[in-house]
Amino acid sequence: MRNTNSKNLTPLTQSSFNELSNDRLQFIIKSFVSHLHDFARDTQLTHEEWRAGLEFLHQAGAITDQSRSEFSLMSDVFGLSSLVDLLAMSSANATPGSNLGPFHSRGSPVMKSPANLLKNNEGQAVAFRGKILDLKGNPIPKATVDFWQNADNGLYWQQDPSQAQDNLRCMLHTAEDGCFEIVTIRPKPYTIPMDGPVGALFTLSNRSPWRPAHMHLIVEAPGHKTLVTEIFDEEDPYLDNDAVFGVREVLVASYKKAQDTELLSRYKDIPNLLEVRLDLVLE
Ligand SMILES: [Fe+2]
Repeated sequence: MRNTNSKNLTPLTQSSFNELSNDRLQFIIKSFVSHLHDFARDTQLTHEEWRAGLEFLHQAGAITDQSRSEFSLMSDVFGLSSLVDLLAMSSANATPGSNLGPFHSRGSPVMKSPANLLKNNEGQAVAFRGKILDLKGNPIPKATVDFWQNADNGLYWQQDPSQAQDNLRCMLHTAEDGCFEIVTIRPKPYTIPMDGPVGALFTLSNRSPWRPAHMHLIVEAPGHKTLVTEIFDEEDPYLDNDAVFGVREVLVASYKKAQDTELLSRYKDIPNLLEVRLDLVLE
């Protein structure tokens, strides 16, 4: 490599990974090198700009810890997370995926459906009811539904010492008819963290940091592709400018006054109960 020049640099760099034994990893890294070099060529990247880019990554690393990944946030706000979710779908009839977000962790309390998460939470009570189906429309019994959302102050329990551990999250299984029911509160919109380099870029760009209110779900069932998705609120003011591009039309649900007599009799002590329904189709 005595004669490295702007023409042979890209293939030279790519071939330096020829010994990677994992073929898929080798393919991904070589493609990454190609796009990275093309990015510098397309933009005619200057030394100052390149250093500023590295400084952005240094700052992202410095603010990242166990409970906060600025790199995940970068992936979200540059649309990469959403693109990977959409690329993972092979059937247009399946429920689309949406952002996992930074507040999911394993070990959610296992509950029986119907589950009641209200406890002493403030906010508007709502019964979230759904059915898990396969692509042919058959219900999937015993599917695992992992559910989490934020409290009435917009914060997840991990962000807020005033909330009990595991507040507003649970894991349950669907019944024989594929149905599940979770009584919870109507979630609130919230902003992405603005104290890091991503937030600084948002401020410079005059970009809205808001995410529309949503419930998070991971649905798993043997023989089916795991679905990571979100359910949005039809009346939310931020549906059309989600900072992380997670909204899909079929994931927007309406919150209505609960009418079902069986549901109302189960929760007689909850005034003004709302109901939100959404069926989810697994590939
Ligand atoms: Fe979230």
